[in-house]
Amino acid sequence: MIKVTVGLIIAMEEEFSSLESYISGRREIFIKGQRFVVGKINKVKIAVALAGIGKVNAARTTTTLSQNFSPECIISTGVAGGLGKLPKLSIFIADGLVQHDIDLTSFGRAKGVLPGMDSPIIRTTIEIKNMLKKVSSSANIGIIATGDQFIASEEKAKEIAEEFGALACDMESAAVAQVAKLEGIPFGVIRVISDDAGQNAHEDFSVFLEKAASLNGKIVADFLAHYIESKKSN
Ligand code: ADE
Repeated sequence: MIKVTVGLIIAMEEEFSSLESYISGRREIFIKGQRFVVGKINKVKIAVALAGIGKVNAARTTTTLSQNFSPECIISTGVAGGLGKLPKLSIFIADGLVQHDIDLTSFGRAKGVLPGMDSPIIRTTIEIKNMLKKVSSSANIGIIATGDQFIASEEKAKEIAEEFGALACDMESAAVAQVAKLEGIPFGVIRVISDDAGQNAHEDFSVFLEKAASLNGKIVADFLAHYIESKKSN
């Protein structure tokens, strides 16, 4: 097993390639057909996993990453939709996560709640969240709602925001969080807003993806530059 310090989970090739230029001593490792890139960013040993889109891909990747690379912490990163309030290309850090598409309301459970959960919200690890906050003082901090849907309607965006108090949405982070928690690994989320999850979300997503992904790569590299010092001071 190769041990790394930080595991990074990314959904799309565009998000992945914006991080690649920061990696030194780059080595590709394939596990059951899935590509992991191991190397260093700003002296921190990392494994980056290209998960693919959606909760199943994210959960599978988090399990494989945890069990094969034993990271000290896992970061879910890339782009996200803002649920009404967040400007495009702004930085978002999660303090909580919810799966907005979990629905056992027919059995009297609140939305987002599975048996064994007291609340729909999974909290990110405070130590990691605080380290991420040091990278950007202007970042918005709040709940990210994850589901297997690209949100592209103001109504749906409003519904998710009101139901869970969420500020942003994506298709992976809460699945990463659920698995990281089960594996006992601290985790955090930092993303850049690519669209507002409204009617024009798919167009905005295409227009802003490259810029948002590139900013995201820089922010992750900055986070890693401060990681070791941040750990000492926490
Ligand atoms: N990731 C980026 N934008 C998104 C959106 N509108 N819905 C879900 N995931 C996203």
